Amino acid sequence: MSPGSGAGNNEVITIMLVDDIPETRENIKKLLAFEPDFKVVGSFGTGREAVAQAQELRPDIVIMDINMPDMDGIQATSEITKALPTAAVIMMSVQNDPDYLRKAMLAGARNFLTKPIDTEELYNTIRTVYARNKPIAEQYRYLEDGRASDLRKTIGTGAGEVRAGHVIVVYSPQGGAGTTTIATNLASGLMKKGIKVLLIDADTQFGDVGVFLKLQAQSTLVDLVTKVDDLDLEFIETILTTHESGLKVLLGPPRPELSDEVEADPTALARVVEQISGNYDFVVVDTSSHLSEMLLSVMDLASKIVLVATPTLSGVKNARFMLELFDRLNYPANKTALVLNKTEDDRARNRTTIPSDIIEKHLKHPIQARIPSDEKTVLMAINRGVPVIASRDRNKSPIRELQELSDRLFAELLQPQPDLLVPDEQKEAKRRSGFGLRFGRA
Ligand SMILES: Nc1ncnc2c1ncn2[C@@H]1O[C@H](COP(=O)(O)OP(=O)(O)OP(=O)(O)O)[C@@H](O)[C@H]1O
Ligand SMILES: [Mg+2]
Repeated sequence: MSPGSGAGNNEVITIMLVDDIPETRENIKKLLAFEPDFKVVGSFGTGREAVAQAQELRPDIVIMDINMPDMDGIQATSEITKALPTAAVIMMSVQNDPDYLRKAMLAGARNFLTKPIDTEELYNTIRTVYARNKPIAEQYRYLEDGRASDLRKTIGTGAGEVRAGHVIVVYSPQGGAGTTTIATNLASGLMKKGIKVLLIDADTQFGDVGVFLKLQAQSTLVDLVTKVDDLDLEFIETILTTHESGLKVLLGPPRPELSDEVEADPTALARVVEQISGNYDFVVVDTSSHLSEMLLSVMDLASKIVLVATPTLSGVKNARFMLELFDRLNYPANKTALVLNKTEDDRARNRTTIPSDIIEKHLKHPIQARIPSDEKTVLMAINRGVPVIASRDRNKSPIRELQELSDRLFAELLQPQPDLLVPDEQKEAKRRSGFGLRFGRA
């Protein structure tokens, strides 16, 4: 092994081989045996066996042939990455067909090797994929065993680090549905050790985040939006307010009439969010029910839109309208997490709300979370200026459901992305798909 080329720190990369041709498996195994940082932990001739053994063997890397009888490599990759998100799959094929490549990426493959295998390329690909996947795998292990391991080490420290930058927009077309309650609690619930979260109040007229968290700020969104073309990340950090829990917050305009300054350029907010997001793992955006060009530009950027609805007739009608709009904007269905707020127990007598299974059927969209109605708990938290989930009573509703929603989004968004595209290309692709598709003009 050439110096500095391996996993480092005497780490050993565990590898599983899957190919229906025994000679291919043997050849790769021999090549890997020359390098002390590789260890083959399993070798299988069918996709089905590989899927069955992956959980047990827990390899870091799976080298998978694409064409196999029984279960093909794409199907096997899809099942393995779902069952064992810590593993990174490298696909192997004789074809150089872009359609195969796309299918493999969609199934969760992280890179591609063309047969016949070139030895140096094999070594480099394994080491690169392993190194890129390591922080993600660490986060999964952390989530799996709840261990407060030193995540900081694995996600990077200090200046110049680039974070995941997932933008989560929380929105409801209905006023008073609980958008601010869910946004503040989601931001709080996503804060785990070593994870940086920013909450932005983009309800530019009557933003409540400051009230909910008992915060007052000297500087707000107005200061950033008016300087959008000239932002420097250090300057941005000085404008943020810090809640006692450590959560960073960017508050909205202090007076309703200042909202015009924020909305004057409808893409300014999105540009601020885009620039700031590289400094954070998650940026949660609280919004007003007013659907605007400004809001849609931020939604374009988002990894996830949490659509909040109450289980009432108007709640369901408005949610349906939004789901149809998102569909016209070509947002993938899984971009929207539908959350029902203020739900009642399905068995409650004298219930006044619509049961969630009926809502799910009507909207043809899965409900990601049901947050029970509990005015006392929610109001007590607001009066104390802390998120509901900061309470010690973790098993109590709606604290439990709010934390579960945060944990689910955390795990889903930090799922591995293929690193076949270099980061600049990914950014460019995101930008191209960004501003443009508009409400009404779609
Ligand atoms: N799960 C819940 N159970 C009981 N009350 C709730 C729940 N969620 C929110 N509320 C209450 O509903 C009211 C509106 O909540 P919130 O301000 O979060 O909604 P919003 O959609 O942001 O409203 P606005 O349109 O004014 O921005 C608040 O009084 C809040 O305490
Ligand atoms: Mg609100």
